[in-house]
Amino acid sequence: MFVTGLILVGVVAAAVYWYQQVVVKGKQCSSGVRLHGKTVIVTGSNTGIGKMTAIDLARRGARVILACRSQQRGEEALQDVKKESGSSQVVFMQLDLGSLKSVRSFAETFLRDEARLDILINNAGVYLQGRTEDGVGMMFGVNHLGHFLLTNLLLERLKECQPSRVVNVSSVGHNFGKIDFDCLTKNKALGLGTSFTQVMQVYSDSKLCNVLFTHHLAKRLQGSQVTCYSLHPGAINSDLARNVSSVLQILLRPVTVFFFKNTVQGSQTTLHCALQEGIEPLSGRYFSNCTVREVFAKAKDDGAAKKLWEISEKMCALA
Ligand SMILES: NC(=O)c1ccc[n+]([C@@H]2O[C@H](COP(=O)([O-])OP(=O)(O)OC[C@H]3O[C@@H](n4cnc5c(N)ncnc54)[C@H](OP(=O)(O)O)[C@@H]3O)[C@@H](O)[C@H]2O)c1
Ligand SMILES: *[C@@H]1O[C@H](CO)[C@@H](O)[C@H](O)[C@H]1NC(C)=O
Ligand SMILES: *[C@@H]1O[C@H](CO)[C@@H](O)[C@H](O)[C@H]1NC(C)=O
Ligand SMILES: *[C@@H]1O[C@H](CO)[C@@H](O)[C@H](O)[C@H]1NC(C)=O
Repeated sequence: MFVTGLILVGVVAAAVYWYQQVVVKGKQCSSGVRLHGKTVIVTGSNTGIGKMTAIDLARRGARVILACRSQQRGEEALQDVKKESGSSQVVFMQLDLGSLKSVRSFAETFLRDEARLDILINNAGVYLQGRTEDGVGMMFGVNHLGHFLLTNLLLERLKECQPSRVVNVSSVGHNFGKIDFDCLTKNKALGLGTSFTQVMQVYSDSKLCNVLFTHHLAKRLQGSQVTCYSLHPGAINSDLARNVSSVLQILLRPVTVFFFKNTVQGSQTTLHCALQEGIEPLSGRYFSNCTVREVFAKAKDDGAAKKLWEISEKMCALA
């Protein structure tokens, strides 16, 4: 009886261990690329997978710009990233993606102070209701529009430094997304409403924007050696759910502890897209678990991608 019990516990423990180490952990970025002399920007890198991505890139010798909205959190992260990576080539620059003015001022400072840009990682994201400083829906504004303007303002520098890359951290949630162009033009938001499902819908919509943009940007960059990728990083224990109700967070804890990746595991697909040699012909595509994936038709709809691009240009006064 006792022995049977022991065996049973052993089998369960082994199964859980296998599940965590193989399925949850997933594939790892296997690139050995070194980045001496290269410059990388990671947005939203004071915490979560952005911070882990920054540490990995700094270890490879890159000059890493931590583009974060809070001076205090950014400077704290700067100390951590320097310490963890053993590199002094790490810089904090203030960037609030919810403010087009801040995006412009960041780009100006960056272009003035830094000579190169080899990899741009659009990682910052929010799961939050409300409006940005510019009166744009928060998730559309931060997850899409701020990055849209940032990418466009830095595109020339990326071209000068080609081969270079843009990596967009999207989400598997984009599969549930749709883009309500009417709502976008009328309300500067992808959707309205504050219920749990409506908020989730708007998050998914904003992530569909990331995938569509990558699709369209790749087309515009055809013929250059600037390539771009979007990705799902996995389900990760990070700070993303910080504004979700605390009751729900407690209820979800057992699931997140066992079935979610940690932030090092969660940064692997971003690193794969930023570093892996030979994926250039896959520019514009979507990755997860360090593997290129097919997307639904709506996520590679040329017409919708172009329309979104044009609306975004207008909203940023780029056109
Ligand atoms: N966690 C998941 O399971 C999951 C799944 C799919 C996709 N993703 C995506 O992965 C990316 C990284 O998320 P994470 O899980 O690492 O979340 P996280 O821990 O919450 O990190 C998000 C980062 O974005 C920054 N940020 C938020 N708003 C910003 C703004 N207006 N300007 C500049 N930076 C801003 C945050 O800065 P503050 O600390 O100042 O707020 C933080 O550094 C996001 O794009 C997210 O949508 C995550
Ligand atoms: C990720 O890929 C690894 C290796 O191919 C596989 O064992 C694992 O199950 C995959 N995980 C997910 C969540 O797809
Ligand atoms: C990343 O997404 C942003 C916002 O959706 C977009 O402006 C930018 O062009 C995208 N870049 C790539 C490489 O997909
Ligand atoms: C989101 O959560 C953070 C951390 O818990 C808190 O500081 C912030 O005020 C919250 N924001 C909103 C809009 O609820």
